[in-house]
Amino acid sequence: MSKELIRLTDCVMAFDDEVVLDKINLSIRDKEFLTLLGPSGCGKTTTLRIIGGFQTPTSGDVLFDGVRINAVPPHKRTINTVFQKYALFPHLNVYENIAFGLRIPKADAKGNKVKLPEEEIDRRVMEMLEIVNLKGFEKRRTTQLSGGQQQRVAIARALVNRPKVLLLDEPLGALDLKLRKDMQNELKRIQKAMEITFVYVTHDQEEALAMSDTVVVMDAGRIQQIGSPEDIYNEPKNAFVADFIGESNIIDGVMRADGVVEIFNRRFQCLDGGFDKDEPVDVVIRPEDVDIVSEDQGQLRGTVTSVTFKGMQYDIIVDFYGFKWLIQTTDLSPVGSRIGIKIDPDGIHVMKKSEYSGLFGDYSSYSEEYEEISDASYDPEGEDSGDEE
Ligand SMILES: Nc1ncnc2c1ncn2[C@@H]1O[C@H](COP(=O)(O)OP(=O)(O)OP(=O)(O)O)[C@@H](O)[C@H]1O
Ligand SMILES: [Mg+2]
Repeated sequence: MSKELIRLTDCVMAFDDEVVLDKINLSIRDKEFLTLLGPSGCGKTTTLRIIGGFQTPTSGDVLFDGVRINAVPPHKRTINTVFQKYALFPHLNVYENIAFGLRIPKADAKGNKVKLPEEEIDRRVMEMLEIVNLKGFEKRRTTQLSGGQQQRVAIARALVNRPKVLLLDEPLGALDLKLRKDMQNELKRIQKAMEITFVYVTHDQEEALAMSDTVVVMDAGRIQQIGSPEDIYNEPKNAFVADFIGESNIIDGVMRADGVVEIFNRRFQCLDGGFDKDEPVDVVIRPEDVDIVSEDQGQLRGTVTSVTFKGMQYDIIVDFYGFKWLIQTTDLSPVGSRIGIKIDPDGIHVMKKSEYSGLFGDYSSYSEEYEEISDASYDPEGEDSGDEE
């Protein structure tokens, strides 16, 4: 694992009296691709601006290579930023847009302003054109480029000064889906090739999972979870993360013992432990982890209330005792049919109750027939203990 490059310690950002970042603690490693992910207004851009030096935190520390940089202005940090609304210079061609930052005289060790020699500028611009796949475009006006090409010029311009860190705030937001996917791959390739730390902001969870080494999930000015894409998907910390990342059925449960959780009065084997005996918990079951079996073989039985063909699979909504689950299956179960389900122990993930409990994870709004469904067979005492594992 590479060494730590940036650290935020207890960073609070308040505007007037409104706290928009609440004690952010974050460590960013050298050469890492780290993504800040969360809904609109959760504080992603503010966090990025603190790292870039455009905003000074109300309290807390920003460290770069172990040195406190709270008061260091943006241009004195070896950090560059690609803003969502990147402004290319319309009167300059692609080459001159990229060369722009290199032509500004820099102070040398003695404080004298020096210009880079023209050959050096040319070598570095051509190198960047190669990296962003725009060789042959150097004479083009930026107004004659596609959205994706303009985006790549903006990235080349930010990288040509060889910053140690590049901050990217929703850089693909303006592009259509196909181009977005292409550019995601391009960006990852560029980041690996140049061995630069990327701090990337998006509200698109698929993009975050596809690109990142580390994902930081935020909500309401707080970090909810930090982890690899796999960790965040497989082991969400609370109902917010489980709901925000992918599709999740989130059900009330009770932890009866290590490895045994009770849902709808049926006991299920799981791999989780370390909870109090009989502790109320939130249980996450991903739609792809549910196996459909015949009604009499199911651990739970329910009624299919809607079916949507998605190409790779069917998304079906199944009513279990008034609670609607999303299940993804390649086998067609028609609307109205009764089915049983089985869930393997590793398809069940148990979480602590949180402020987000009860807010997410029911798919009732997916199904129009919701009001018409009432399952008279629901037995809250769970007599048919034959279902227990
Ligand atoms: N200069 C400011 N003055 C007052 N409030 C601000 C200021 N900048 C941001 N905020 C508030 O801080 C909160 C977080 O804003 P921020 O821009 O960081 O969100 P975000 O996660 O980037 O959202 P989005 O996905 O919409 O870009 C918001 O409620 C916003 O209104
Ligand atoms: Mg933002």
